[in-house]
Amino acid sequence: MVKQVFPGVYRFGRDFATKSQDSKRVYGERLKRTKGGVFRVWDPHRSKVAAALVKGLNEFPVKADSNVLYLGASSGTTASHIADVTGGLVYCVEFAKRSMRDLYQVSLRKRNMVPVLADARHPWEYNHLVSCCDVLIQDVAQPRQAEIVLVNSNYFDFREALLSIKSRSIDTTRTPKKIFDEEVAKLEKIFSVKQKLLLKPFEEDHILVHLVRK
Ligand SMILES: C[S@@+](CC[C@H](N)C(=O)[O-])C[C@H]1O[C@@H](n2cnc3c(N)ncnc32)[C@H](O)[C@@H]1O
Repeated sequence: MVKQVFPGVYRFGRDFATKSQDSKRVYGERLKRTKGGVFRVWDPHRSKVAAALVKGLNEFPVKADSNVLYLGASSGTTASHIADVTGGLVYCVEFAKRSMRDLYQVSLRKRNMVPVLADARHPWEYNHLVSCCDVLIQDVAQPRQAEIVLVNSNYFDFREALLSIKSRSIDTTRTPKKIFDEEVAKLEKIFSVKQKLLLKPFEEDHILVHLVRK
């Protein structure tokens, strides 16, 4: 039995899913075929946003018409689900050329994914390509993860953000909790924290933070 839990986000028992634009797989995910269409199961082992949904994300900031800036899109696993959720544009920033090749192929099949080959640390290199964005999603394995959100917030007026923080990309010698607290404290200058979720057992030493601009 399918149930809509957020606009564009569905549940089949324990599985979360999005309604596929083209009825095809993107990364080998399971498909559920119903009279209402074909749904792609959103794998929490492959996507931190899906892991956060399973771990109890209370609100989903991406709405049916949101424009989304996605930093660290890789080959489009999570970004393709976000593109299923919204009718707005999903700007997918990725700096690795190998991942960009796959991302580009996925974006050819989705009407609203815009691949952007750029460094997420340098928003001035891509702000002319992004008309407007309501939500930021960030998942970059970089040492200065909070700073990347902050520098992008100077160029884009997104109101909400879903930020994945990986402590091991920042420092392997200190405890993850200390690192998470420090990163969140930097963000609290301009954002309020709606929710903070540990992504274990899907991801070790990761949290996902839902931020709203003050
Ligand atoms: C963990 S993967 C992202 C997975 C993806 N979010 C998903 O769920 O499908 C992190 C990605 O961030 C990219 N990345 C790291 N630093 C970056 C930067 N400064 N600018 C753009 N992309 C970056 C990496 O190349 C990698 O593809």
